[in-house]
Amino acid sequence: MTWLGALAPRRWPLLLLPAALLFTGCDITPGLRTDAANTFAYNGYVAHRVGDLFINTFVWAVIVFVVVMGVFFFALWRFRARPDHPIPSQVHGNTKFELAWTIAPTLVLVIVTVPTIQTLFELENPPSTPLEVEVIGHQWWWEFHYPDQQLTTASDLHIPVGQPVRVSLRSNDVIHSFWVPRLAGKRDSFPVPDSTPWRKNHMWFNATDPGTYYGQCAEFCGLEHAQMRFYVVAQPAAEFQAWVQAQKQVPTGVTAEAGQAAFVRGGCIACHVNNTTDTQIPNAPVPVGQVRGPNLTHVGSRLSLAGGILENNDANLARWLRNPDEVKPGTRMKLPNPLSEDDIRDLVPYLRSLR
Ligand code: CUA
Repeated sequence: MTWLGALAPRRWPLLLLPAALLFTGCDITPGLRTDAANTFAYNGYVAHRVGDLFINTFVWAVIVFVVVMGVFFFALWRFRARPDHPIPSQVHGNTKFELAWTIAPTLVLVIVTVPTIQTLFELENPPSTPLEVEVIGHQWWWEFHYPDQQLTTASDLHIPVGQPVRVSLRSNDVIHSFWVPRLAGKRDSFPVPDSTPWRKNHMWFNATDPGTYYGQCAEFCGLEHAQMRFYVVAQPAAEFQAWVQAQKQVPTGVTAEAGQAAFVRGGCIACHVNNTTDTQIPNAPVPVGQVRGPNLTHVGSRLSLAGGILENNDANLARWLRNPDEVKPGTRMKLPNPLSEDDIRDLVPYLRSLR
């Protein structure tokens, strides 16, 4: 009687239940399924090199697994207990065997280690002048600061196709990890006080095809870790430059002055930089440690809301403003007082017009 025999055949489909766990990893923000998060659909030089390295290591791991398991099961079968069968010959301490199973794994490790170290050194620095981006992890959203362009945004990381992008990583609170499955990662972002800038992590990557690439925090960082997402928007160089120019402008065509008043009255202004309100300094990076929400100057132009988890549309924005904790339990977005329906009616068109 085996463990499988203990389960009546009509219950065998129950064995499929654990497979459901596999599919929990498949859901991406509804409405934003622009790109499968398939790690194996590499894009860009760094992703290809790391992917090749993974395949090389994986192939060797499979070979080792098959050989070891093959010998193991053969021995189980060959030397199974039988009445007429004496104890097989004992090889404990046999010098030839001991040498063989010391040398063989050493060779496999060398085969895996040499390309790994080569790749590490090769990918240390980008091959040409990179676009510099400071990436700052927050519970639970990502902030992107472009020092040379002097602009700050959140949740959407725009990059030009082809050009290397070098990110420097730090965190505003706990340890997060930057991961764009198709492009690069994972690399931790640590809390880095200004006195120890050398603790920032760095990495570079590029995208060779235009598109929207899904990103995800890859280090458990609290209740909403799984909901700490972002999108890398890779654009042809001219489109990227146009985006930079638009982001540097105060948005034009802002509607609903009532919304602007509600932005101040509702307390949004306490945590969110928004260059259309006069009380904030344009694009000032706020010191680490201060309560800080995403810069909302161009929030209407972004793909998503609430740290990458809701498609950016009127209905979702209203839902988020009405009760952030219902959308993202534990969120740091705390309203001093719940917004009135009038406030929300004014705020939605206003924020959506910040493009
Ligand atoms: Cu940030 Cu997990």
